[in-house]
Amino acid sequence: MKIIAYGIRNDEMPYLKQWDQENPDVEVKSESALLDDKTVDEAKGFDGVVAYQQKPYTASILDKLGRFGIKALSLRNVGVDNVDADAVKRNNIKVTNVPAYSPNAIAELAVTEMMRLLRNTKKFERKQREGDLRWAPDVGEEMGHKTVGIFGTGHIGRVVLNICRGFGANVIGYDPYPNPQLQKEGIYVKTPKELYEKSDIITLHAPALKSNEHMVSDKAFSEMKDGAYLINAARGSLVDTDALIKALDSGKLAGAALDTYEDEVGVFNKNFGSFDAISDDRLKNLMKRDNVLVTPHIAFYTKTAVHNMVKFSMDANKSLIQTGNSDKLVKF
Ligand code: NAD
Ligand code: COI
Repeated sequence: MKIIAYGIRNDEMPYLKQWDQENPDVEVKSESALLDDKTVDEAKGFDGVVAYQQKPYTASILDKLGRFGIKALSLRNVGVDNVDADAVKRNNIKVTNVPAYSPNAIAELAVTEMMRLLRNTKKFERKQREGDLRWAPDVGEEMGHKTVGIFGTGHIGRVVLNICRGFGANVIGYDPYPNPQLQKEGIYVKTPKELYEKSDIITLHAPALKSNEHMVSDKAFSEMKDGAYLINAARGSLVDTDALIKALDSGKLAGAALDTYEDEVGVFNKNFGSFDAISDDRLKNLMKRDNVLVTPHIAFYTKTAVHNMVKFSMDANKSLIQTGNSDKLVKF
């Protein structure tokens, strides 16, 4: 059995080597390049493909995998919004992802950013670099007195909920598919509008779907409390960036933390050499602000998560090849 793994970074290599040693019946080839129209030809002759990327798994890539007779594609990430679903079905390709590779990784960053926003740490760090060690006027706020609204109470949202509860926050949630235990606890509001109206901090943990593109829009911001905070460690497409900038300019929003951004592909995880050289003006507008925290899609990036992404995806690919099935199968 032969598996090719694309987009393998240096930090993933030890875990891939470990998996390779533990699975002597599988021939593993690692490829540092991402899976795209140029590199897809390398998959010819392999039984399965493992890949990770934010850029699209397009119809032309998937059609080629289909022509090579490859029916097993395993993604090393949770989100599958970048996969052409029609092409997957047309080519009878089975796709797995790695749900819950480490919900704590993402949840802990989301909460870190909430705390940083509440305590103005970005501004204090800037002032410090300018030699200004005064307190005023940047008095902070306490999580224990806030209502945190969790948009999407799946694996990650639930960890955020528990951490915030640990700080003494009041926690509410919105999810079209409520979690039975949380429902018993009465945490759910009925609509996104109700979540926006009642929350001091809104944190997004829903998948990107066609139906929720730009759901955090001018209208959504107008429904939020004055001085609310927005955290997006889910997907950039959920937030209308122009509307976000307006809400920050008007002061409606007290601050935002973005680990994902709608135009992040080709920008995040790239070294531009200097701030000025960053190619996206809207992003720079946001990054310059004391009350906006931008992290380049690093929420997942912990040792535990990286190890699990490699192990779970390789296990899933092997299972797809051997049995045509996996407990991590994605339904398109
Ligand atoms: P999950 O599937 O366990 O949970 C998602 C939850 O969102 C589910 O409970 C679902 O019912 C709910 N949901 C679906 N549509 C919704 C909507 N329109 N409004 C509100 N809730 C809705 O997924 P998860 O593991 O918790 O991950 C959530 C998302 O986080 C992923 O889809 C991915 O986009 C993102 N993510 C980001 C990073 C990162 O590094 N920043 C890493 C992993 C995942
Ligand atoms: C995911 O797993 O869905 C992520 O957002 C992280 C991944 C792009 C590395």
